[in-house]
Amino acid sequence: MQIVIIGTGFVGVVSAAVYASFGHTVYGLDIDEHKITSLKQSKVPFFEPGLSELLTQQQENGNLHFTTSYKEAITDADVVIIAVGTPSRPDGSANLSYIYAAGESMAPYLKENAVVVIKSTVPPGTMDGVTQTIKEHTSTPLHFASLPEFLKEGSAVADTLKPDRVVIGSSSEHAKKLLSELHEPLGAPIVHTSIESAQMSKYAANAYLASRINFINEIANLCEINGAHVQEVINAMGYDKRIGHHYWYPGLGFGGSCFPKDVAELASYSKEHSLDANLFVYLDAANTQRIQIKWREYTQLLDGWQGKTVAVLGLAFKPNTDDMRVAPSLVFVPQLLEAGALVRAYDPKATPTAKQLFEEHERLIYADTITQAITDADIIILLTEWDEIVQFDFSKHTEKEKQQWIIDTRNRLNKATLEQAGYHYVSIGS
Ligand code: UGA
Repeated sequence: MQIVIIGTGFVGVVSAAVYASFGHTVYGLDIDEHKITSLKQSKVPFFEPGLSELLTQQQENGNLHFTTSYKEAITDADVVIIAVGTPSRPDGSANLSYIYAAGESMAPYLKENAVVVIKSTVPPGTMDGVTQTIKEHTSTPLHFASLPEFLKEGSAVADTLKPDRVVIGSSSEHAKKLLSELHEPLGAPIVHTSIESAQMSKYAANAYLASRINFINEIANLCEINGAHVQEVINAMGYDKRIGHHYWYPGLGFGGSCFPKDVAELASYSKEHSLDANLFVYLDAANTQRIQIKWREYTQLLDGWQGKTVAVLGLAFKPNTDDMRVAPSLVFVPQLLEAGALVRAYDPKATPTAKQLFEEHERLIYADTITQAITDADIIILLTEWDEIVQFDFSKHTEKEKQQWIIDTRNRLNKATLEQAGYHYVSIGS
């Protein structure tokens, strides 16, 4: 099969490399010359475990190509997958202009019976608009489908190779057959739905998981008032098979490029349809406010930050990625500097990203190691639960003459060991 993925962002590059690994001819297409030039040289512009190796391998064996030319990529394509970005508008809704632009640009080159697929997360109804745009530019018979993406950053290659399910939304028998064949090597359940249900299933999955995180954050707030421990509560509740122990550890709120954006889109979509006070509207607001509420709590507890040395451990929004979109560090680092702290920041992979995002500041130092970051620190704030950070033996690094604090916003460190070593330990929800 010849497959084109339009958009060489995170989802596009991972999908292109994985489809190529099944032996198909795959083109990654982007209008950004700079990105395509780097990808042609096997340079991936972000850190994702295993991706660079897979990409190089598929380019070397001739399955995977990158181009900026619609004509070159689309002319012989059986399947054209749109995976471009949908940046947020100020009201939280998705800006779909890149999706429509891709539809318009591909239209003149589409061959008969090509399957046009939207993989980007888009609101139901988008496919009608895209179909209409394409049909204004070609009369070739085509098929349309939705193929939502469920991979997670940090385990994207593994998730794509071993998905829990593949959702194919289409009313075309040809599209269903071709896309089922394409995903058959994954051995995952294939769920056929309408285009609208496929699109809603993506929003619903993300909003459900985000609600779960918000739910436990709110339980954690109550535990902090009444002396219960949220981790004990999770453990006790998780034995109920309907609930489980997974995927609801508390923190400073959900971040990354997906949950906050998808929840904001659902909230905006709800308001557009006069559902002004539903769960998604609340969730969007609650998650946005949470980090500032926690910041104020810590500020009060520590009696301000002026003149204090603060080690910030973890800059990425989660471990195993260098992505800092909606990362807690984006709020904490500038606010710490503003409040007069000396900040020593450490992250195993995201420091180069941080250097692009944070302005240079005489009180912002990037540490090369955890030890360098925490030596002499008054306060250690764990923001990202990288293995290297949670496995670090902090108890060997206490300063006897100092009152040192550890703020563990991921509940991953051992309270008893740290308190025994002399730290004041603060976690979430206890
Ligand atoms: C998320 C979904 O998990 C994927 O299924 C989906 O495909 C993806 O969005 C997307 O829409 O493209 P991702 O954003 O990579 O994936 O990261 P997650 O591991 O889900 O974490 C999201 C946020 O929730 C992070 O800030 C994380 O720290 C937080 N989180 C996660 C918690 O606070 N507690 C948890 O128990 C789990």
